[in-house]
Amino acid sequence: MLEAGSRSADQPPAREVAATSDEDLARLVQRQFGRQAHSYAVSPSHAEGKDLQRLAELLPHDPHLRLLDIATGTGHTAFAMAPHVREVVGLDLTQEMLVEAERLARLRGVGNVRFVRGDALDLPFAAQSFDLVSCRRAPHHFADIPRFLQQVTRVLVPGGLFGLVDQTTPESQSGADLMEAFEKLRDPSHVHALKLSEWQQAFEDAGLHVRHLELDMEERDVLDYLDVAGVDSGRREEIWNLLRQAPPAAVAMNGFHECDGRLRFERRRVVALTAA
Ligand SMILES: C[S@@+](CC[C@H](N)C(=O)[O-])C[C@H]1O[C@@H](n2cnc3c(N)ncnc32)[C@H](O)[C@@H]1O
Repeated sequence: MLEAGSRSADQPPAREVAATSDEDLARLVQRQFGRQAHSYAVSPSHAEGKDLQRLAELLPHDPHLRLLDIATGTGHTAFAMAPHVREVVGLDLTQEMLVEAERLARLRGVGNVRFVRGDALDLPFAAQSFDLVSCRRAPHHFADIPRFLQQVTRVLVPGGLFGLVDQTTPESQSGADLMEAFEKLRDPSHVHALKLSEWQQAFEDAGLHVRHLELDMEERDVLDYLDVAGVDSGRREEIWNLLRQAPPAAVAMNGFHECDGRLRFERRRVVALTAA
């Protein structure tokens, strides 16, 4: 007989539902990235994406500067910037991602990077303690973007620079709604991706001056994209249903198309450099 709360082997696992509090979200993030840490460490898109090269080009290269990489994951941005600055601190909420980052640092012999566990919305650093801050492919997991940007401005020296990459949605609401639904099914720790115009407003509200803003497009194979996030078969079915039933204009706006028998889409990202 099954006890209350237990499940038989052939029942599907309990479905992860959207977070209802900051603590739930922190748990969802750590569960999602904790089990997928190695996939993120070896994912070519994460390790070598052109958005990473673009971010590393936009940030200054100066051996006197200290950089904080927020939501560093397995450290791809930290490693891209380490040769160009004095020191990099990589911060992330998920211990397993940091274990992978430390393993990669040892493997590559990178000596000027250290990793710290912490929350992007409550940075464990003194005011004005970094010359540069970066954050790549993560703010769409944060519960409160204004608070995150306020933390960025707090830890930056006056005139310090903040480089951002994050996924963004089309300005058209139906295109944005489809991408948000797709992302939430792919990764339950997804909260909300801002449109380009919303990022501009958020920077302005936080007192960050935009020095550069561009849209980066990366064509991605949908199955590979689902694999990196470890999407189970039930959620895959929901994703196919979502795409089948979506308005054709919204599907086209996100660049979903078939190529050589594989479904692909256009991942849109904002790439920005701002000054405190
Ligand atoms: C898609 S990974 C991106 C990692 C890395 N920046 C990169 O470009 O490869 C997102 C990361 O955000 C982290 N994260 C999510 N919410 C966070 C928060 N509130 N504070 C710190 N890290 C967070 C996750 O643990 C995960 O490692």
